[in-house]
Amino acid sequence: MNPNDKNTILVTCAPGLSEFLCQEVETLGYSIDAVLPAGAELQGDLYDVMRLNLHLRTAYNVLFLLKKFECHSPEALYREVKDFPWEEMISPQELLSVVGRIDTASIDNSMYANLKAKDAIVDRIFEKTGSRPDSSKDKTGVVVQFYWKGEHCRLFLNTSGLKLTDRGYRKMPHKAPLRESLAAAVIMATGYDGTVPLVCPMCGSGTLAIEAALIATRRVPGLLRSNYGFMHIKPFDDVAWREMRAAALKQSRKRGGKSDAKPAPIIATDIDPKAVEASRRNAMTAGVDHLISFEVCDFADTPLPPEPGIIVMNPEYGQRLGEIEKLRLTYQRIGDFFKQKCAGYTAYLFTGNLELAKQIGLRTSRRMGFFNADIECRLLKYELYAGTRKYPPASSDD
Ligand SMILES: C[S@@+](CC[C@H](N)C(=O)[O-])C[C@H]1O[C@@H](n2cnc3c(N)ncnc32)[C@H](O)[C@@H]1O
Repeated sequence: MNPNDKNTILVTCAPGLSEFLCQEVETLGYSIDAVLPAGAELQGDLYDVMRLNLHLRTAYNVLFLLKKFECHSPEALYREVKDFPWEEMISPQELLSVVGRIDTASIDNSMYANLKAKDAIVDRIFEKTGSRPDSSKDKTGVVVQFYWKGEHCRLFLNTSGLKLTDRGYRKMPHKAPLRESLAAAVIMATGYDGTVPLVCPMCGSGTLAIEAALIATRRVPGLLRSNYGFMHIKPFDDVAWREMRAAALKQSRKRGGKSDAKPAPIIATDIDPKAVEASRRNAMTAGVDHLISFEVCDFADTPLPPEPGIIVMNPEYGQRLGEIEKLRLTYQRIGDFFKQKCAGYTAYLFTGNLELAKQIGLRTSRRMGFFNADIECRLLKYELYAGTRKYPPASSDD
């Protein structure tokens, strides 16, 4: 396998994040062939794969197409998977994980399909080299992923391995943390670029504030991580990867290093001291603690730098945590906070409960759909006018 050979690259993301993913992929200079409900397809080689893994904030995995074929039975899967030169890609010393996504009448046991595909790969390597790689479920070595839908199967190398959204900085998760990729997309949706203050009351484990700090300083998120699936294949170009990382580091330093201009203030507060401690430590691990001011306080006492600025709040919404009745009052208080203390700011509320959001009592100027795991959520935007301008009242859909 030549690392310069181009093929389809499938980048996956959480449902609802494709728009943000495509924006990122296009900013990196690629054109998109297909936008999917939870991903995008483009063309590229193994160097493009490394670049995408390093730079994307909203992606889950970067998959590189190896082969596609018609498949009517587990035996056909074994035959077709075995008919690929795995010995050129995987050393017998590597750890192999095989993951199948199956939606076909040809088989109803996805574990069995995974086993057939894994056997095909290790049998082939054994026949060609005399030894076989161990297999594992932990996705820290070579990860092969296949999608078998109907009678069609596509076989990919999962070049990320573990999901890119697990950046590695969240050593201390607090209650109901947002995934890093979702938090990055929420920050992107606010249009934040580091030039105005960003305030995150109810910060929990600090994910929104940390992702904002990474975006403001153009820090390349993949620098936070040291292991990727593509590093474990034989054609991996270590020298090119080191150069790519060095260039990304230079870009981050130039734009956001301690000696350079800092972004406008980023403030993260929470009423729970343990949340603030978790946020502080997570920010330290991400290398952005010097860019964020932390404070333990009720959200309504969060200090606000002079406007204009952006507020992003992710209160509990009663599906997983908290009780609806108690939260009703919290949402009313958030509305009062917006009206009474945040004039001149643009506020965003991320919630999975639109009934509770009505308690804010302000008209939204935009409503964007997201999913948090399988919960349908909205990011609601409120323009909080400065001066004497009256707030538009909430309409029945707000
Ligand atoms: C859903 S969690 C936020 C999760 C966060 N976005 C993350 O990614 O980790 C809601 C947070 O609101 C905090 N909270 C609840 N009531 C509060 C209040 N009155 N003032 C400030 N924070 C509050 C909780 O302690 C909790 O950390």
